[in-house]
Amino acid sequence: MAKQQKETVIEVKDLCKTYFMAGGMSQSVLKNVSFKIEKGEFVAIMGHSGSGKSTLMNILGCLDRPTKGAYYLTGKLVSQKTDNELAFIRGHEIGFVFQNFNLLMKRTIADNVSLPLIYQGVGEKERYKRAVEMLKIVGLKGYEDRLPTQISGGMQQRVAIARALVNNPAIIFADEPTGNLDTKTSDEIMALFSKLNQAGITIVLVTHEDDVADYAHRMIKIHDGRKEYDGLRSAYLNKEGQ
Ligand SMILES: Nc1ncnc2c1ncn2[C@@H]1O[C@H](COP(=O)(O)OP(=O)(O)OP(=O)(O)O)[C@@H](O)[C@H]1O
Ligand SMILES: [Mg+2]
Repeated sequence: MAKQQKETVIEVKDLCKTYFMAGGMSQSVLKNVSFKIEKGEFVAIMGHSGSGKSTLMNILGCLDRPTKGAYYLTGKLVSQKTDNELAFIRGHEIGFVFQNFNLLMKRTIADNVSLPLIYQGVGEKERYKRAVEMLKIVGLKGYEDRLPTQISGGMQQRVAIARALVNNPAIIFADEPTGNLDTKTSDEIMALFSKLNQAGITIVLVTHEDDVADYAHRMIKIHDGRKEYDGLRSAYLNKEGQ
């Protein structure tokens, strides 16, 4: 088989984030973080509570901007973009999955899944059709007309994943996607992420559970805002086991 050409989809260089608070207080949360992620990788970002994982994910997912440093997403410098430009990138190029699912509880599951398509001007009929297709991928065929309150937490996270997929994104970011789920449901969700990764989608997820990180090939560990480890998950486990 021909060796696959590497294609960098994410590059961060000397990324810093400082939060400025009322009364002149500030907190430096990310300190000169640099790494590259290639197309098709499955990366787990780990680190203890407060180490800066969500801060990093929010920047990678174009929900926030770094204070200093550069972020290139599929070759484009996104760290200097305006809010509107970031919203456009979120709507067209990436999917984001949250710990608490972030569904609209009064809207049907189909509406929730197809929401990102409204911003792309896709018509109602086509939106419903796309929602049905996405729900099939995540194993929720036939659930399109229910409300999120009528399904389990694991199913709600599948709906959120379907919503993240609806733009046909090259990358999915997920911040503790299994944090609110029991072990069995968590395994099912991780099996779904693995399936999506095998289909070519780059996946970057935050977790502090070892069982969840084991699904990833690569691990980036953040300690107190700095990158402490970056390499194969298996190599990290061998090192730990010594
Ligand atoms: N909007 C904000 N304003 C001020 N400080 C913030 C803000 N968001 C996060 N912080 C602070 O930045 C630090 C890192 O927070 P962050 O949420 O990135 O950590 P985390 O690694 O995701 O933690 P957890 O595992 O608990 O989710 C914390 O000390 C937090 O209090
Ligand atoms: Mg967090």
